Amino acid sequence: MNYIGSKYSLIDFLESSIDKTLKLHNETKKSSEMVFADLFAGTGVVSGSFKQKGYSIIANDIQYYSYVITKHVIENNGNLDKKRCDHLIEELNNLDGVEGFIYKNYSYGGTEGQEFRRMYFSDFNAKKCDAIRIAIETWLKQGKINEHEYYFLLGSLINSIDKYANTASVYGAYLKTLKKSALKEMELVALPIMEGTVECKVYNEDISELINNVSGDILYLDPPYNARQYCTNYHMLETIAKYDNPVIKGKTGLREYSKQKSVFCIKDQVAEAFEDLIRNAQFKYIFLSYNNEGLMSFDTIEKIMKKYGKYKVYMQTHRRFKADNARDNKADTTVEYLHCLVKEDS
Ligand SMILES: C[S@@+](CC[C@H](N)C(=O)[O-])C[C@H]1O[C@@H](n2cnc3c(N)ncnc32)[C@H](O)[C@@H]1O
Repeated sequence: MNYIGSKYSLIDFLESSIDKTLKLHNETKKSSEMVFADLFAGTGVVSGSFKQKGYSIIANDIQYYSYVITKHVIENNGNLDKKRCDHLIEELNNLDGVEGFIYKNYSYGGTEGQEFRRMYFSDFNAKKCDAIRIAIETWLKQGKINEHEYYFLLGSLINSIDKYANTASVYGAYLKTLKKSALKEMELVALPIMEGTVECKVYNEDISELINNVSGDILYLDPPYNARQYCTNYHMLETIAKYDNPVIKGKTGLREYSKQKSVFCIKDQVAEAFEDLIRNAQFKYIFLSYNNEGLMSFDTIEKIMKKYGKYKVYMQTHRRFKADNARDNKADTTVEYLHCLVKEDS
């Protein structure tokens, strides 16, 4: 998924920097004996790659769509039958469209006569999305699929539909005419199945609360870097994931999001929230991804982390996340830092 702040292209940098830190501190535990926590998990790509390295994973995100995808990536271990999964995907792909919540509120045809005519998806794709989403829920209720299959199918829907969105990149706005990729008929594509350790757990909580209830060896923190809230930028995926017929408002059809507003996107609150996390974390190794344009300055982060143990930083240049129609004058690259702390009291 093309997700703001995704670490997909930085995985090698993260893995090698984390490995170096463990070696530098003569860590004797094997990966299979260690717990790795990814508590701002997003697409789950970091959790997934450390799961493949043999770690037990704890993952978390405040957004429900992220929880769904990560539940599949992290918790589905040896409990899915690949052939059966392929059949289920095929059956869903062959359903006739339904004029459901997504069609009625977020497509041009469905919003005819309404105050706001929205065009987040083509009429066809909106109806197909509704049909698949309704079937997945019905199948779970009828016992046709189990919970593991439910998260696999729903995660696959969220990941697939995003590729046909008629937006420049995020769901804060839609385009006035259907772009080329939005005009194509949506195909539901299965998320890969990744086998690994069974001791993995995914949460859907605010990290500031969860941090007091989890512990382990490595804590990886990848908070939002700037003021762009994920709850508003990805509201469409949240509604498809929850499919809870929310009251929606305004031109973009936003759902209520006050409980998902992140303090990590608020300039005068982020440093305090970050220090609380570091103080309360029950992990020996703590890693923070942040770039040179984030709300917290490099010096602020360094100062906070140094209070709690041994500190070091790794860095790499990184291609900027850009929308299709971005016409700003900012540099194409940013500097991506991995701040490392070996906590003294852990
Ligand atoms: C930079 S993204 C993480 C990207 C992820 N590492 C990846 O590669 O896909 C930040 C994530 O933090 C989540 N988030 C923001 N505030 C949060 C909070 N207070 N508690 C938990 N998750 C939060 C957002 O929903 C978003 O998915």
